[in-house]
Amino acid sequence: KIIPIIMAGGMGTRLWPLSRAQAPKQFLELLGGKTLFQRTLERVSDGELYTAPIVLTNAEFRFLVAEQARLIDHPLAKIMLEPVVRNTAPALAVAALAVEREYGEGAVMQVLASDHEIAANAVYFDCVAKAREAAKAGRLVTFGITPSEPATGYGYIEAGEGLGGGAFAVKQFIEKPDRKKAEALLAAGGHLWNSGMFMLPVGPFLKELRRLAPAVLEAAARSLEAAKHDLDFERLDPETFATAPDISIDYAVFEKTPIAAVVPSPIDWSDLGSWDSVWKLGARDEQGNVSDGRTTLLDTQNSLVLSKEIHVAVQGLSDVAVIASEDAVYVGRMEDSQNVGKLVKYLASKE
Ligand code: GDD
Ligand code: MG
Repeated sequence: KIIPIIMAGGMGTRLWPLSRAQAPKQFLELLGGKTLFQRTLERVSDGELYTAPIVLTNAEFRFLVAEQARLIDHPLAKIMLEPVVRNTAPALAVAALAVEREYGEGAVMQVLASDHEIAANAVYFDCVAKAREAAKAGRLVTFGITPSEPATGYGYIEAGEGLGGGAFAVKQFIEKPDRKKAEALLAAGGHLWNSGMFMLPVGPFLKELRRLAPAVLEAAARSLEAAKHDLDFERLDPETFATAPDISIDYAVFEKTPIAAVVPSPIDWSDLGSWDSVWKLGARDEQGNVSDGRTTLLDTQNSLVLSKEIHVAVQGLSDVAVIASEDAVYVGRMEDSQNVGKLVKYLASKE
């Protein structure tokens, strides 16, 4: 069986002020119903295909994770807690070591981000099967998405020779290019977006970590060795985990490894990373507006307006995001959605 690894430790700063330090986006009901984290759990609920998932998150979110899994009655193999934020490479190194310990180096794990909306249909599971085959053959596999615009928030993959079974070697992996570079890659053709989902054979993945990111692996191994069990949680050792470099798996491994492969995946995928993506995915009215909660819009087009508590009225604007939480309101141009993280940093610097 595939071992699902769910990454649920991001802060989701670009969705400020709804996504907050205490409740990042993966734990919010962004578009009604269940949270993105709960919907991620449901994608790995097929007991024939998957073991119970391992969740990696920040220690601060431990009760959110446990409670949201319990609310939909979803079993978890374990919840591993990171004492400080070190991005995805250290978390995945810990996950791989834990999986190797329990299932051996021949195991295959599927890494799932918890901030995506994906239709879990036949096409999706067909891609999962292809990725699993390529992973079994020793490749570090990503799921590739056909790009629709020169987005700067994604990794870009140039696909190389076919490996059979629907997988292709990765010629080049470029994480988060700037606008100019993204436009050039899109114009050149033949590039896919990295979906942020991976299928990884544990042995080869650990070998690449040892070679390309030894400090990450070292810190991960020590913090796992000295981890403490506390209720349903496995707390990684704070002192050793803190020595891990702060780096994502995309920069640490995928930009450098020669054994990456991509499975082009014609799946229904959205990264709910920024306000423009929430707007794109929402139900737009004739004016192109998406609104939810206590809102009134007049002479307003192509905008996103969200407010649960206070009444928000918008008049005479287009292409804006107006997002109100209990104690803060964000107003910005839709095209600046990728920059909200910068605002959050600025706010933090003034505190
Ligand atoms: N456990 C843990 N610890 N999870 C984390 C951490 C961490 O320190 N940091 C982020 N995550 C989780 C997030 O919650 C999210 O589910 C996932 O890991 C990816 O992190 P993001 O911070 O959302 O990455 P990104 O969106 O900027 O970029 C990645 O995803 C893109 C597609 O959505 C990259 O893989 C890109 O290449 C990719 O295109
Ligand atoms: Mg993301």
